[in-house]
Amino acid sequence: MPDLKETICNEVSRRKTFAIISHPDAGKTTLTEKLLLYGGAIRLAGSVKSRKANKHAVSDWMEIEKQRGISVTSSVLQFTYNDYCINILDTPGHQDFSEDTYRTLVAADSAVMLIDGAKGVEAQTIKLFHVCKMRGIPIFTFVNKMDRASKDPFELMEEIENVLGIRSYPMNWPIGTEGDFKGVYNRSKAQIELFDGGNHGQSTVSSTIGSVNDKVFADLLGEHHYNKLCEEIELLNLAGDEFDKKKIMSGELTPIFFGSAMTNFGVQPFLEEFLNLAPKPGFKKSSIGDVDPESDKLTGFIFKIQANMNPTHRDRIAFLRICSGKFTKGMGVYHVQSKKEIRLAQPTQFMAQERTIVEEAYPGDIIGLFDPGIFNIGDTLSEGNSQLKFDGIPIFPAEHFARVTASDSMKRKQFQKGIMQLSEEGAIQTFKQIDIGIEALIIGAVGALQFEVLEYRLKYEYGVDIKIQHLPFKHARWIIGENIDPRKLNLTSSTMIVEDNEKHHVLLFENEWSIRWAEERNKDISLVDIATNF
Ligand code: G4P
Repeated sequence: MPDLKETICNEVSRRKTFAIISHPDAGKTTLTEKLLLYGGAIRLAGSVKSRKANKHAVSDWMEIEKQRGISVTSSVLQFTYNDYCINILDTPGHQDFSEDTYRTLVAADSAVMLIDGAKGVEAQTIKLFHVCKMRGIPIFTFVNKMDRASKDPFELMEEIENVLGIRSYPMNWPIGTEGDFKGVYNRSKAQIELFDGGNHGQSTVSSTIGSVNDKVFADLLGEHHYNKLCEEIELLNLAGDEFDKKKIMSGELTPIFFGSAMTNFGVQPFLEEFLNLAPKPGFKKSSIGDVDPESDKLTGFIFKIQANMNPTHRDRIAFLRICSGKFTKGMGVYHVQSKKEIRLAQPTQFMAQERTIVEEAYPGDIIGLFDPGIFNIGDTLSEGNSQLKFDGIPIFPAEHFARVTASDSMKRKQFQKGIMQLSEEGAIQTFKQIDIGIEALIIGAVGALQFEVLEYRLKYEYGVDIKIQHLPFKHARWIIGENIDPRKLNLTSSTMIVEDNEKHHVLLFENEWSIRWAEERNKDISLVDIATNF
């Protein structure tokens, strides 16, 4: 019997916890399903959502949430492959894009950036990429839909570099990108992996001389494709970046894989290479120094809180990312923020649509804890150390703003309670206009749908109807500087000064131009867009 320390070491080294970042329709659901094909999915949290569910109207989406009891957006998915234990964190996309989407990335050790080969780098991918970049986690790129005509692969690499500021290293190279896809050339194995037209299979042809110049490929591909491939590989070898694992680990270089999730082409080689390169759960910064994942004491942090959508049950689920030690059902841990010892009696992991009780879990795993209202996002749980506190989770910049009031002023109390609860969950950000009372509550949200969620939940969970007046602001910037009176700043007339919950001053801007105005005319302050919990 291995001892506890040994067990934890083994479990840590087989864990890979990552998120897929992409723009809607790039094929994330399809890729996730294909990855699951290779492993036996052992735990599905929130499940791979039905593709159709994503495309439902808002009201249907609410119904789906209600029926499931937990949010369709709360997926964490665990499966094993070749003895690896893999956790995929879902980053909700589509219209349910919200702060949760960003926050999930804080719990990931690496990211897979999925790009539609014909569309290149799209808006939502850019936003999510920046969060990964900020965290310095490795980013692996999968260029999808190569079975169809795509952009030129060199052009795609250039776009990734210009738009995202990251260099790339193609692990394989596509042959035929104008709707005449033949397969890919695997650079490290010097072999061609043949696309068979989407029959969900894959055959490979290896070079006997270990090079793309092997005549066997010429016979196979025909002159046009073969010559083009040789030229392109030569160009890549000469002018491209070198494979550098250190740079990949620090997020400076992204390995690129070309493939087609729908036809299952290139998914398995990608998975294998990814598992080989992606990092296991690592050290995590805390108030008492870096925490070793292999320590025998359990630590973790809450990165997301989800209310039960059933209005008769006010309980919430707090998602804990385990950072070190071993979790066992019923164990006691110290909740640093409330300074209390608590028992983790009913930890859940979500099986498709029902919850299952987790018996044990290890660093890299995510568990759902029953939350009677004691947890906040960013809280630390720790076994036996009351001083340890993990760094806070960033607040992500809201991009939609509205003034929100209760229609019936008699219901102000419930209104405030509801707003507070939703704000604690991180579904919305609340600001107060300076020098004006609670009536001037400004709500910020990362995704526009959050306002509809807000309206719905206040009505059904708190019995409050609200009035929403949308405001034209698009950017919030926190003011950093000593003893600054924001009223004395030189700002455009459309800029609004507000305060966040912790009384930090924040400026709301309608456009980039007014941000530049504020920056250029107020040299003693700096403005930050992603504010950590100061
Ligand atoms: P998402 O979760 O990122 O939003 O994307 P999803 O997997 O739902 O895929 C979006 C669409 O792209 C789907 O088509 C899907 O079949 C298609 N797709 C995914 N991967 C590939 C690929 O490798 N090649 C091609 N040609 N298409 C791909 P749909 O018509 O919107 O949905 P469905 O009717 O197929 O379900």
